[in-house]
Amino acid sequence: MERTFVMVKPDGVQRNLAGKIISKFEERGYKIVGLKMMQMPQELAEQHYGEHKEKPFFQPLIQYITSGPIVAMVLEGKGVVRAARKMMGATNPQEADPGTIRGTYAVEIGRNVIHGSDSVDSAKREIELYFKPEELVSYQLAGDNWIYE
Ligand code: RTP
Ligand code: MG
Repeated sequence: MERTFVMVKPDGVQRNLAGKIISKFEERGYKIVGLKMMQMPQELAEQHYGEHKEKPFFQPLIQYITSGPIVAMVLEGKGVVRAARKMMGATNPQEADPGTIRGTYAVEIGRNVIHGSDSVDSAKREIELYFKPEELVSYQLAGDNWIYE
């Protein structure tokens, strides 16, 4: 089964949206296999967003993502990397379709409430950045047969 890394960003936590956002993935049928709240260390933020180091928005992005606690999670399920990105909506919430998470809860690109890995390779890298192997759990849900044929 595929796994992805999802994070409720500091604005999502401050706006009490963590539960609602987690619920959307649960309700769809994706399984939470790792979950924690943490204050993002500066170094981890810079590592996570290393691909954007040269971009003009890098400093504000690091400032934003370290500005308060975040909720980090690993979700498991069929095609979950791509599906979670589609559920999040476009990076700029003004472009995000209604009904997506950003299209429902966000207005500006620098306050877009959620992060999700953009590929299976990024997911693997990001999961390893945030979670130790023993912090992830493999388990069956009683309803799995009602989600997968
Ligand atoms: P994320 O990594 O946070 O899930 O977002 P994403 O893949 O949809 O977008 P990405 O291009 O990776 O950008 C990372 C985050 O940087 C901020 N950003 N600001 N001002 C700007 O032009 C700009 N572009 C990106 C956003 O917070 C974006 O989520
Ligand atoms: Mg990204």
